[in-house]
Amino acid sequence: MTQSILKGSSKSFDRKDWSSAYQNVPEELTNSKLKIIKGSVPSTLKGTFYRNGPGQLERNGQWVHHPFDGDGMISSMKFVNGEVLFSNRFVQTKEFKEEVNAGKFLYRGVFGTQKKGGAITNAFDLRLKNIANTNVLKLGNKLLALWEASNPYSLDLKTLETHGESNLDGILKNKEPFSAHPRFDPGHFGSKRIVTFGVKTGPKSTIRLMEFSNEGDNSGVLLSDRKDTFNGFSFLHDFAITPNWSIFIQNAIDFNPLPYLMGRKGAAQCLSSKNNSKGKFLLIPRESGKYAKESPREIDAPEGFVFHHLNAWEDKEELILESIFYNDFPSIKPNENFKEIDFNNYPEGILKSCKINLYSSKVELKTLSNQCCEFATVNPLYQGLPATHSWMASTENKTGNAPLQSIKKLNLKTGEECFWSCAPRGFVSEPLMIPEESLVEDQGWVLTIIWNGKKQLSELIILNAENLKHQATLELPLAIPHGLHGSWVEE
Ligand SMILES: [Fe+2]
Repeated sequence: MTQSILKGSSKSFDRKDWSSAYQNVPEELTNSKLKIIKGSVPSTLKGTFYRNGPGQLERNGQWVHHPFDGDGMISSMKFVNGEVLFSNRFVQTKEFKEEVNAGKFLYRGVFGTQKKGGAITNAFDLRLKNIANTNVLKLGNKLLALWEASNPYSLDLKTLETHGESNLDGILKNKEPFSAHPRFDPGHFGSKRIVTFGVKTGPKSTIRLMEFSNEGDNSGVLLSDRKDTFNGFSFLHDFAITPNWSIFIQNAIDFNPLPYLMGRKGAAQCLSSKNNSKGKFLLIPRESGKYAKESPREIDAPEGFVFHHLNAWEDKEELILESIFYNDFPSIKPNENFKEIDFNNYPEGILKSCKINLYSSKVELKTLSNQCCEFATVNPLYQGLPATHSWMASTENKTGNAPLQSIKKLNLKTGEECFWSCAPRGFVSEPLMIPEESLVEDQGWVLTIIWNGKKQLSELIILNAENLKHQATLELPLAIPHGLHGSWVEE
């Protein structure tokens, strides 16, 4: 792997290299010591890097229709004295165990996977399969595999064994949605918190906003809990926080459930962006902030569809929200094979900022970078505060849609960029920024798992956060499909 190559070339990848990552993970490993291929592991990195993503994508010759329908597998990489120990476990959800026993898919997937037998077999089967594949979070003494449409699954922090579906000791109702996008408050009210939500949607949508302690003996204790109801259908995957606000974008989308009911499409394939319609910013006051107990505010948002936010912060009467905008809701159509998609036919993710005036409701939209990106992050100590630096997964080329092959550092104030690239045969995943104790904003390390198409295996990459200089490459003993989200737990 080399620093930035093929910049500006029209084609930086071979689709077969990209799609070759989509395989069933064949086994579960325990504390397997990773081979350092290049460089060295910084001794200051002490903790565990947890990742979640689809680990099983095919049963009895049938592939999922979309990788997001794959069963969750947790990987953990424990950093000890310059070495890294790797373990992985499939999340043993009830539905996963049933399908393993049956040797075939018994449930439909939200993103279009159908049971064999066509529409007749699938029509009116509205059971949800908890695939626990989206993120992994340490909450109190629990390790949770998250999937936003239902309760999380609780796992053993060390062994990753599945304990079972968790209602968080009675906080959640049975099957209550619990987001896969917690936000880590670095201490806006004196101590660290985890802020998260669940959304129940229909003609009206109710957001339950929960804040948990994330520090000391109280870690995992629910500190505040509020529910607010809004008009309209909501698809809320992520949100952002500032000291006083939690900020959602209610995308302008239509949901036509008929093809889902009739067994022809998955539920998410029935979503589409409403033409020429604006979404809404839903601003919910945080319970410890200065607007606590006030009603939420709703402000018109720019056109576009947003899955993920980078960060948000406050500047007097303005809120600034940085998000990745798509022109439309991207979904894989019923007759398409996800491994053969033409990236040019899918909208690209563009990082933009919205300056929202709380009093005039005026919104100023600004593009931060025209290069397609996903999985953007700031230094976790700057969550909710004005950050200068951001890190993200980006395409190799400056324009157009393509797989993510570079890690990019973007200075949000000057626009200055630097890159680490594994093109043409490597593909990156979500970068995680681990700050150093120096508290200089961009000092620390960036961790990411890449798919090495040439070697047909996954690698753990460590980069210097300040300049994206390569620090270390460690070979994983398994081929892991392109994943979703993860987290870092200090030793
Ligand atoms: Fe996400």
